[in-house]
Amino acid sequence: MKRILIIIGSPVLLFFACGSNGASGDEGRHPKDKGAQLFSMHCSLCHGKDGGLGLNGAKDLRRSQLTAAEMKAIVLNGKGAMMPYKNALTPAEIDAVVAHVRSMRVNE
Ligand code: HEC
Repeated sequence: MKRILIIIGSPVLLFFACGSNGASGDEGRHPKDKGAQLFSMHCSLCHGKDGGLGLNGAKDLRRSQLTAAEMKAIVLNGKGAMMPYKNALTPAEIDAVVAHVRSMRVNE
């Protein structure tokens, strides 16, 4: 006589209500990381990953003497071979990418 034991493990479904959902979800988790991401996506082509490539006559961003406001104006409106980004990036993205450019600077 064979005893066949069929064990049906009924799946236990646990729903964990993990605290805060909603509220402030998608707002800048790591603004600096976002700037770096944007920079490698939009700027590193000409400026290089570290800002020092200088393709097409671009200046070494690490040694730029510009203020944050001047940099922002150039990113917004473009200059020379550099295209304007005011229609390509949101104001928050432009702030983030300019902050990243400033973080790359070396002071001598
Ligand atoms: C098509 C190539 C190209 C791309 C892409 C590009 N740039 Fe430029 N960028 C240039 C060139 C060329 C100059 C120099 C313009 C001049 O002085 O005539 C420049 C100048 C600048 C300057 C001024 C530096 C100084 O000290 O004068 C800043 C700041 C800058 N770029 C930031 C950025 C950022 C941020 C991005 C991405 C959002 C970006 N660039 C994308 C080509 C590029």
